[in-house]
Amino acid sequence: MTDIPRLIIDTDPGQDDAAAILMALGWDALGKIKLEALTCVAGNVPLAYTAKNARIICDWAQRENLPVYAGADRPLLKPLITAEEVHGKNGLDGVTLHEPRTPLQAQHAALYLAETLTAAAPHSITLCPIGPLTNLALAFSLAPHCVQGIKEIVIMGGTFFEPGNVTPNADFNFFVDPIAAQIVLQSGASIRIVPLDVTHQACITRERMNRLRALPNQNGTRLADILQSYERFDIQKFGLDGGPLHDPCAIAYALHPEWFTCKTVHVAVETATGLCEGASAVDWHGTTGKTPNAEWAYRIDDEAFFDGFTEAVTALP
Ligand code: BDR
Ligand code: CA
Repeated sequence: MTDIPRLIIDTDPGQDDAAAILMALGWDALGKIKLEALTCVAGNVPLAYTAKNARIICDWAQRENLPVYAGADRPLLKPLITAEEVHGKNGLDGVTLHEPRTPLQAQHAALYLAETLTAAAPHSITLCPIGPLTNLALAFSLAPHCVQGIKEIVIMGGTFFEPGNVTPNADFNFFVDPIAAQIVLQSGASIRIVPLDVTHQACITRERMNRLRALPNQNGTRLADILQSYERFDIQKFGLDGGPLHDPCAIAYALHPEWFTCKTVHVAVETATGLCEGASAVDWHGTTGKTPNAEWAYRIDDEAFFDGFTEAVTALP
């Protein structure tokens, strides 16, 4: 029997982050993965909201025992850019929010990551960063040796074949903290990247939204309400078929890499300001001669993915 993946999600919830966290909690309930913690970062909305939203999502899944940590409240070297126009002022537009019961841990998220990964058995923990990479970059800077505990890092970020969603050529997560992204890419850990190239193939179409809404549990309806609010932006602005499930794709990759087609490449992120800030330079044809540092996903079996997503959400209260 293969080992159950142990996951830590680093997140900035965010509506599609909420979908990703609920997906992971559903698979955890089914015994398919073991979700060990949520670490929060500023991104879609400021840290005060992301750390609160993560705890509210745990409440929804009746997982008040899941440790939630707050980390960086801004990128390493630039001012924070947020995305309230997509996710709403508090980050979870579409539903009414309550005061969370799940406690916030006292430790800083970056310290938690540094200590946990340093103490972990070699190559034992999968990290799924689905927001700006500031917390991971801080942890790797504090304790470079902690990389030893990482099995793989599945990053939602970047874009190469698809236009960017925040500038013409950058995705939000890499653009918000390009230096952090570059630190993570150079960390030497085993890295898989789930970029817009793939997540724009994983949209929640009308038929899928109806399936989600028809689920008999509260979280199915709740997620349909959140994603219905979320999709307006992407349909209007990018002409997509529905809201792209960016962040759930990273969770899916951690458990089902066979749903994705990838190429082994060298990836670097532009850290200079200017037209290409935060863009991912993917050496598709090996023109630089640099040693590959990542698996770049560029195709997804979106039907299998959505079936898996539905299976996970169905397992929730
Ligand atoms: C990423 O940006 C955020 O708005 C989403 O949550 C996702 O992580 C996509 O570029
Ligand atoms: Ca996110």
